[in-house]
This record gives sequence, C-alpha cells and structure tokens, in this order.
Amino acid sequence: MLSNQCDSMNVYDAICSRRSIRRFTQQPIALDVLQRCVNAARVAPSGGNLQPLEYIVVTDPVVCASLFETLSWAAYLQPKWTPEDQKRPTAYIVILVRETKNPYYQRDVGLAAGNIMLTAEADGLGSCMLCNINKQKIQELLAVPTSRIVDSVIALGFKAEHPVVEERADVVKYWRDDYEALHVPKRPLTDVLHFNEYGTHTPKRTKR
Ligand SMILES: Cc1cc2nc3c(=O)[nH]c(=O)nc-3n(C[C@H](O)[C@H](O)[C@H](O)COP(=O)(O)O)c2cc1C
Repeated sequence: MLSNQCDSMNVYDAICSRRSIRRFTQQPIALDVLQRCVNAARVAPSGGNLQPLEYIVVTDPVVCASLFETLSWAAYLQPKWTPEDQKRPTAYIVILVRETKNPYYQRDVGLAAGNIMLTAEADGLGSCMLCNINKQKIQELLAVPTSRIVDSVIALGFKAEHPVVEERADVVKYWRDDYEALHVPKRPLTDVLHFNEYGTHTPKRTKR
C-alpha cells in the first residue's frame, strides 16, 4: 500500500521547474519512486471516472534499450538528435488505454502524464513525454494485448541537463546554444492571460 505522503517540494515550484529532460545520468531510479509516479497517475481526474488508463514501468536494461529504439526525440533540433549512449533514460512509464471510444481518454492521458512528470520532478527526477513513437513495435515488445492501445511513453531518469525557459511569443521551436544548453520558448503570461474579457491584459474593471 502506497502512502499519500506529500513531498516537501511545493506543487507550484514543481510545475514551474519541470522541463522536458532528454539527457540523463545513469544512476538507477528506486522502484518505489516509479510506483509513486504511477500511483499519482492512478488518482488523476478521469472523465466520467472511467479510468481507462494502465501503465507499464520499464527498468530492465535490455527492454529499455529496445524501447529506446522506438522513440523519436526533439523533432525541432536539426540535424536529427537522440540522447547519447551514456545519457539515455534509465526508466520508462508506458501509458496504455483500455477504451478508445471514451471521448475523454486523451484528456485523461494528459492529466495522468502531468501527475507522473510532476511527481518525478518533486522526487528530483527529469522526465520527457513522448508521443512520436512506434506504437506497433512497443505493443509487440511489451506483449501488450490487442485490447489495450499504446498511447505514449514517459522517459525518466536523473537530470543531466537543465533547460532554460525563454519568454517569447514569436517562436515555438526550442534550440540548443553553443554550450548545448536547451532553450525552451514559452509565451509570456501577459500574452495568454485575459481579465474579464478577451484582450484585457491588466486586472482593471471592464466597462459594459
Ligand atoms: C503530447 C506531447 C507529446 C510530446 N512528444 C514528444 C516526442 O515525441 N519527443 C520529444 O522529444 N518530446 C516530446 N514532447 C515534449 C515537448 O517537446 C515539450 O513538452 C515542449 O517542447 C515544451 O518543453 P517543456 O516540456 O520543457 O516545457 C511532447 C510533449 C507533449 C505534451
């Protein structure tokens, strides 16, 4: 039985400090930390509370190596880039869906994946959600029955890079600088936040 013990890291801090990490040290992750990540996904909100998701934790180095071959990394980086051999993820959580006629399942996946990545962040791990994946190969590799669909993969490990947020409304593509640091543009708060009516970016009263 896993406890409901809260980590000392503030939720908002974990949300803001989390970045997609694509380079990892090779220090193994304790199994109970991975179980906590899945437990956090298990209790996520679920449309109609249908709870269509299941999870495969992969830590076996041989299976990790095969799974790695099914993943595509950082599509915006040119030339084509994948993590170096000694910087690969040390664990994965594969998200499966039990019922794709459920109109809300993709929202469930997003919320569950968010919980996994924030729990990982609070436990000092880096993570990256991957949807650009070879689902058919993963299905075969992990012996997933046809009644379950492979949806996405979350790569995990201790961080070996520290991406930088750039407040930019004009670009969406992340980039690496001359020192290999990843820069990730995010639209500024003033660009996405409206008060009382669309287009009002300061919290003054609107006239009606
Ligand atoms: C639905 C979804 C699919 C993604 N698929 C991939 C992927 O296949 N490969 C990859 O390297 N990153 C993938 N990412 C990570 C995004 O590139 C990343 O979230 C985005 O660049 C913003 O960076 P941040 O997560 O550090 O804020 C995905 C993220 C999401 C939410």
